Amino acid sequence: MGSIVLFGPPGAGKGTQAQRIMEHTGLPQVSTGDMLRAAVKEGSPIGLEAKSYMDRGALVPDDVILGLIEDRITHADAVNGVMFDGFPRTIPQAEALQNLTEITHVLAIDVPDERIVERICGRSTCGTCGTVYHDTFNPVPPSGCSCGSYVEKRRKDDNADTVLTRLSAYHDQTSPLADWYDAIGLFHPVNGDRDIAEITEDLLELLN
Ligand code: AP5
Repeated sequence: MGSIVLFGPPGAGKGTQAQRIMEHTGLPQVSTGDMLRAAVKEGSPIGLEAKSYMDRGALVPDDVILGLIEDRITHADAVNGVMFDGFPRTIPQAEALQNLTEITHVLAIDVPDERIVERICGRSTCGTCGTVYHDTFNPVPPSGCSCGSYVEKRRKDDNADTVLTRLSAYHDQTSPLADWYDAIGLFHPVNGDRDIAEITEDLLELLN
């Protein structure tokens, strides 16, 4: 098997679905957003450069992202491919990716813009294990996170103002990738405006 791209607007459910299909594919989740947040937290040079873009909801420059990816796919767990989450997001990123690894599927989670703000503004993540929750649509169970030590984390860029900038970056710079991947026969859209488990079922079917 090669690598998979999970594609969609901010808050579409890429991270949620990656966590659910990871055990079926055996491919590690590679989230450029998570890698950038880790770099910001460390205070590394990449983190310092990325922070101002992320805080305002703009895309981080391609050369920074490609440097992260080129390094990540040399790790031992990436030898059979990976599941990209939030990458590529521009045509130059997709072109560069074609020279780095074989992509077998681009799984696109379609969600209308009017759903995005409520999804993003209700999101929390367990700081211990990374499981993604939603205050209304996927709440933390009363018994707590399945990892046993729930620590609530909310992202700084998960606010109604920044999400509008993220959405316009998606429409201007990322959505043209749909036609680009369709033209090479890799693009598989699914309706993401449904129950989380139904979407997982469709994604797994596409991978079989
Ligand atoms: P990133 O971290 O990638 O953020 P994003 O693309 O905006 O995506 P999200 O993580 O917000 O959403 P998601 O689709 O994973 O949704 P989730 O599953 O959490 O990027 C952050 C920033 O980093 C960017 O703005 C940019 O600055 C930079 N960056 C990252 N990659 C880059 C790149 N390649 N190039 C340039 N810059 C880059 O779900 C959201 C919520 O909805 C959750 O609460 C979840 O529980 C809920 N939910 C999920 N599915 C459903 C459902 N079916 N029904 C109801 N609720 C649902």
